Amino acid sequence: MPHSEQLQAFISSAQQRVNHALEKYLQTMPCPDPKLGEAMHYSLTGDGKRVRPILVYAAGKATNGVDQCLDIPACAVEMVHAFSLIHDDLPAMDDDDLRRGRATCHRAFDEATAILAGDALQTMAFEILSNADSALSSEQRLKMIAQLSIATGARGMTGGQAIDLAAVGSNLTLEQLETMHGLKTGALIRASVVLGGLCNPEITAAELEMLDSYAQCVGLCFQIQDDILDVIGDTETLGKPQGSDQERDKPTYPAILGLEAAKQLAQEQHDQAISYIAHLGDRADTLRQIADYIIERDN
Ligand code: IPE
Ligand code: IPE
Ligand code: MG
Ligand code: MG
Ligand code: MG
Repeated sequence: MPHSEQLQAFISSAQQRVNHALEKYLQTMPCPDPKLGEAMHYSLTGDGKRVRPILVYAAGKATNGVDQCLDIPACAVEMVHAFSLIHDDLPAMDDDDLRRGRATCHRAFDEATAILAGDALQTMAFEILSNADSALSSEQRLKMIAQLSIATGARGMTGGQAIDLAAVGSNLTLEQLETMHGLKTGALIRASVVLGGLCNPEITAAELEMLDSYAQCVGLCFQIQDDILDVIGDTETLGKPQGSDQERDKPTYPAILGLEAAKQLAQEQHDQAISYIAHLGDRADTLRQIADYIIERDN
């Protein structure tokens, strides 16, 4: 099977697997308020690429993680991601009306419901990670919760979003831009890969370090490509409004470096990501192919 077909098969099966697990969680943890429950379902089950769960599964595969444990962190990172998108689209933040090819949560419902759906999805992620009935040991669960909470909070995604908003209209240095992207997007991507690795209770510190270095580069690469697609993509393929960053004068790689230099930097990060996992052998091929996909993607 050629590389791209192999990856496509992996992606499709990971998407199906996580979608099924997400539906199951929504059903078994019903919300007492129908509107809030519907908004959570709407945002969590939309037509997303599921990149973060895919990274959990691929990192688990690369490091011999216990397969039956992978759905838990895969769902947890997607719940945090869905929460971050709902809040990112709010009028007080990026003020976008289109997400995953349909109305953003606050447009489909209302602002208060969108804020609450985000809050509820975030805590749901930690609730499922903490569940003592899972096949994960309490030590594994605690490590996962620690990693994901740091990646989500002020020292991770939330802090990055604050820097993003404060920087609108100002000229960030390349270093500041890298810090911002590393936090707002990179932190959750890193957590996804590391949580996949933690599904092997015997994983070594050296292996986790390799995964983390890989994910740091892939995370930056992912957001650079997101910025590039805001310039060269089209709204229908993206499922979100093309040109939104430019319209709001957002600090992005193409805005600061120019399109070609941004593409070059994404390529450099991609190459570095691959080099970090050189010692993981063939079982890390999917992680390598995902790095390729991240800079080649058009949505
Ligand atoms: C969009 O993430 C937000 C960023 C961090 C760039 P994705 O591009 O993964 O969005 P979905 O989940 O596929 O909709
Ligand atoms: C979003 O970055 C990062 C998070 C949601 C944490 P963007 O604002 O660039 O994401 P899109 O382009 O709206 O998906
Ligand atoms: Mg934003
Ligand atoms: Mg946005
Ligand atoms: Mg963007």
